Amino acid sequence: MRKEARKRPIPLLVLVLSCAAMLAGCANLPATTLYTYGDHATRVLDLLTPVFWMAVGVFVIVQGALVYTVIRFRSKQASAPVPTQIHGNTKIEIIWTIAPAFILLVIAVMTFRTQAANSYQPPEAMKIRAIAHQWWFEFQYDDGKIVTASDLYIPVGQSVQIQLEAADVMHNFWIPKLAGKTYMIPGKTNYLAFKATESGIFRAFCAEFCGESHGNMRFRVIALDPAEFAQWKTNYATTPAATNGTAQALGLTGDAARGAAIFADPKKQCAACHIIEGTTAKGKIGPNLTHYGNRLTIAAGVLPYTTDNLAQWLHDPASIKPGNLMGRVIKKGMLKDQEVADLVAYLDGMKFAVNMPAEK
Ligand code: CUA
Repeated sequence: MRKEARKRPIPLLVLVLSCAAMLAGCANLPATTLYTYGDHATRVLDLLTPVFWMAVGVFVIVQGALVYTVIRFRSKQASAPVPTQIHGNTKIEIIWTIAPAFILLVIAVMTFRTQAANSYQPPEAMKIRAIAHQWWFEFQYDDGKIVTASDLYIPVGQSVQIQLEAADVMHNFWIPKLAGKTYMIPGKTNYLAFKATESGIFRAFCAEFCGESHGNMRFRVIALDPAEFAQWKTNYATTPAATNGTAQALGLTGDAARGAAIFADPKKQCAACHIIEGTTAKGKIGPNLTHYGNRLTIAAGVLPYTTDNLAQWLHDPASIKPGNLMGRVIKKGMLKDQEVADLVAYLDGMKFAVNMPAEK
């Protein structure tokens, strides 16, 4: 009696946890593929849903037949004789060969159709180049005239074609609610075309193990109405910080002016790795920091963008993102509190207004 009572809770716990996990999978969480806002991801969902229900049908029929047989034909006496032994039933075997083959054929046709639609590259699509680095994503517009990182701005209702490349190792480009995973491979260019159907901010991830901070390699997609997207591009190219970054020309004073000087100081290393358009900072190793104050996150999605988090990052980058290159150069405590405050004021000041949509 006591033995039985001990046995039961474990399967029950597994059942409860499984149900909870399944329900969580149904919620509109940041990385779910069950709520889609882009044509590419919607086509995948439109394939997944019927295949799932076909699998449910097969499961119910097969398991139902099994359970029915076990109950209906169970032995009723302890000393029952051995039942009649039969070998094979041609009619049933033909049915259970043809039926699965037909189901697989249907799934194959549906899969090929989805693949064909999702690999089509519309010629009118707006071209954006995405380059994966350990561990951040770089985005280039208009043949490199606009270069940014970690935030991918796109227009709603227009096809975009992402040209996918990798600078070091293999990465994978994945925006769960907009477009399925596509590899980013050093030496090979892949293309991914998709269209956002609603404005919003969408989470996106590197989906291929690419080293120590693979789990810290994320980005955001900001889908704006076409007019606002055009405005974003214009502002990006013409806002003063992008065209003339000297402290005097920008009218910077106090912390921000000192921050500009620290950033440009060769001894402080910032300008050796980062570009800020219009300034003497021309390093190409790290992300381009032009209009850095507009970023939604710090360190490629690790922390939300706030001036406090930016200060924390500048104090000790390695503690926030293990293995990252900046952490090898800027050690904990290398920048004094006042220097950090100056750099934060400078970087945070470089921004322009964007009418941000809601996160979806
Ligand atoms: Cu890049 Cu994982």
